[in-house]
Amino acid sequence: MKKFTCVQDIGPLDKALEDARLIKKDRFAFTDLGKNKTLLMIFFNSSLRTRLSTQKAAMNLGMNVMVLDVNQGAWKLETERGVVMDGDKAEHLLEAIPVMGSYCDIIGVRSFASLTDKKADYEEKVLNQFIKFSGKPVFSMEAATRHPLQSFADLITIEEFKTKERPKVVLTWAPHPRPLPQAVANSFAEWMNATDYDFVITHPEGYELDPKFVGKAKVEYDRDKAFKNADFIYAKNWSAYSDPNYGKVLSTDRHWTVDTKSMDLTDGAFFMHCLPVRRNMIVTDDVLESEKSIVIPEAANREISAQTVLFRFLKTL
Ligand code: CP
Repeated sequence: MKKFTCVQDIGPLDKALEDARLIKKDRFAFTDLGKNKTLLMIFFNSSLRTRLSTQKAAMNLGMNVMVLDVNQGAWKLETERGVVMDGDKAEHLLEAIPVMGSYCDIIGVRSFASLTDKKADYEEKVLNQFIKFSGKPVFSMEAATRHPLQSFADLITIEEFKTKERPKVVLTWAPHPRPLPQAVANSFAEWMNATDYDFVITHPEGYELDPKFVGKAKVEYDRDKAFKNADFIYAKNWSAYSDPNYGKVLSTDRHWTVDTKSMDLTDGAFFMHCLPVRRNMIVTDDVLESEKSIVIPEAANREISAQTVLFRFLKTL
């Protein structure tokens, strides 16, 4: 594996899940694999789970880890070619990337969508420059359009908690006061579509995702109908994808907040969210604290998804 940016990069899901199970059984079984190998994690945006789980995963494999917060202590980076650099940006990504690549063996990058330039966001401009110019294997720690480490952890979690071979999984939009990228929702849809689960997406009109990610999923605008017989409810906010509203908040209708009444429509579904979550906007306290909420084991599986990806990279170095 030379890059990990989407579900296709991981190959057959049964094999990926097999590796994840192997690692979860004994996460310290491969401590020699990463000896004298260095992971560089580059953050253009904030993180709690991705930062800690990926660092822990690398340490479990015996790796050295360096973390760079681009907006704290590094030179401000220009990303556009052809710009006259007479402003506050002292360094260009085109030099910075190969320099960073020269100090490490594997690179993880977090770079969110701008939500102002749809074309640049959906071309994954920043992530693809790292892939092109670093000379090292690169993985996404959430990019403009996808969050594959999260989706892989979500899949591992569903496999652990499911009680039927083909569960009904519902991705539901939920309200949030600020515009958020579509990355988690896109990515979750992409990974669910790679399984044979019964996968349904529900959201208010205007929040349609890129059809490329919706794929074979059933889109149901009536949330109550979507929740019927669900085994897993995966809540997430995202801003509008379609023009002319790209990146905009179109609704904060709290009818869409996941509450006990809506969860009662399901078949005793588990509640999932990637975190961080806004209580009583996305989901009520009651649901989040209920025994059906699996957000903590879901977050814990971020260590397993990251370690599985690093394990596969290290085997090819
Ligand atoms: N779910 C997730 O990626 O969390 P962080 O933004 O805290 O890394």
